Amino acid sequence: MIRENLMAELNEQIKFEIFSENLYLAMAAYCADQDLDGFANFFKIQAEEEKFHAMKIFDYIIERDGRARISAIDEPQNDFASILDAFQKAYEHEQFVTKRIDTLMDLAIEERDHATVSFLKWFVDEQVEEESLFRGLIAKLERIGENSAALHMLDAELAQRTFTPEDDA
Ligand code: FEO
Repeated sequence: MIRENLMAELNEQIKFEIFSENLYLAMAAYCADQDLDGFANFFKIQAEEEKFHAMKIFDYIIERDGRARISAIDEPQNDFASILDAFQKAYEHEQFVTKRIDTLMDLAIEERDHATVSFLKWFVDEQVEEESLFRGLIAKLERIGENSAALHMLDAELAQRTFTPEDDA
C-alpha cells in the first residue's frame, strides 16, 4: 500500500489537475467570447487532457489500495487582457504543474516507492510536451502580433485539434 504522505500529495495533485481543467475551460470561454472558436476548441481539448490526468492519478491511488479524495477547487481566472495573455498564463501554470510533479517524484524516490516513480515518469514526459506546446503557440502569437488574417489562420488550425486519450496514455 502507498504511504500516507505520498497519497496525500497525489490527492493534492488530483486537485491541481481539476483546477487546470477548469482554468482551460475558462480560457476556452474567453476565446469563444472573442469569436475565436478554434482557440476555444484548443482550450476545450486541453481541459479534457487535464481531466484525463486527474483520472489517471485517481485510478492509480485506488489501484494501490489507497483512498482517493476530491477537495474544493478554487475559481480560475476568467478574464484575460488578450489571447496572448491567456497563453502566457497557461504556460506559467504548466511550469507550476511541472514543479509539483518534480516534487512528487522527489517524494516517491525518497520513500523508495518504485511503482509510484514509474507511474510519475509519464507525467514528467507529459509536462515536457505541455510546456513545449504552450511555448510554441506563444512564439506564433508573438509573431502574429496585430495581423488579424494570420490570427484567423491559426484559429482555423487549432479548430482541428482533437483529444485521443490512447495517444496520450
Ligand atoms: Fe496536467 Fe497540463 O498538466
